[in-house]
Amino acid sequence: MIVLDGASKHYNGNTVLDDVSLELGDEGVTALIGPNGAGKSTLFGLIGRLIDPDAGSIRIDEMDVAKAPSRDLARAIAVLRQDNTIAARLTVQDLVEFGRFPHSRGRLTSVDRDKIDEAISYLDLDGFRDRFLDELSGGQRQRAFIAMVLAQDTKYVLLDEPLNNLDLKHMTEIMKLVRRMSEELGKKIVVVLHDINFAATYSDRIIAMRDGRIVADAGRDEIITPEVLGRVYDTAVDVREIDGRPVALYYS
Ligand SMILES: Nc1ncnc2c1ncn2[C@@H]1O[C@H](COP(=O)(O)OP(=O)(O)OP(=O)(O)O)[C@@H](O)[C@H]1O
Ligand SMILES: [Mg+2]
Repeated sequence: MIVLDGASKHYNGNTVLDDVSLELGDEGVTALIGPNGAGKSTLFGLIGRLIDPDAGSIRIDEMDVAKAPSRDLARAIAVLRQDNTIAARLTVQDLVEFGRFPHSRGRLTSVDRDKIDEAISYLDLDGFRDRFLDELSGGQRQRAFIAMVLAQDTKYVLLDEPLNNLDLKHMTEIMKLVRRMSEELGKKIVVVLHDINFAATYSDRIIAMRDGRIVADAGRDEIITPEVLGRVYDTAVDVREIDGRPVALYYS
């Protein structure tokens, strides 16, 4: 389990994460939703120790995130960041090999090579192995980053807006892959999504944030309502039932 206890973060007097206590990891796939600036990426940053909290504590399976050796942390949790700035003159293969670093420390074993091959195939990137990242389309590059995270082979995976830059087919494929990773590989995945219908379709639990706080935390049917979505996003959202499922209409 990932357990946050009273986690807070402030920048220049502004509270961007406000006393958040939360348990993650019972469900296979948890979607994290909320408007821009709600604190979603900050929450991920604290869990992955990319950002230090100003108050509170975070534990991952009894490991204190503040004190854990980096290697132990990297073997427990993988984080796909929202903005990946990394040298463009890396190939897809190089990038995915990075994902194995906490295991291999640069000396790849046959197990490492298998994990790298599996991750590349899972993301349908076999034909792009030797391509440099700046020779890929935005969506292909995004898949390469997800392959890197998959190769890290951790129980917990945090994906911050993994559907960025993806076309309709690949958005659906990534979400199906996320479900498969949870069902077949037992991974516990938390994924930031802006498309709430993707959140509703592919997750077991939806956590909504606003102004640095958790404002709703429940299953699809309780979250995909005009009342809750209106409160979370501060905008009118219509909800219809299609094939027995609530579907949010926000394109009108
Ligand atoms: N390094 C920083 N310095 C100052 N303020 C910051 C910093 N990082 C984030 N913030 C502020 O913290 C708040 C939360 O940011 P965060 O990136 O967590 O939001 P988010 O929910 O991920 O939003 P988005 O959907 O746009 O990615 C925002 O108001 C942001 O401006
Ligand atoms: Mg963000």
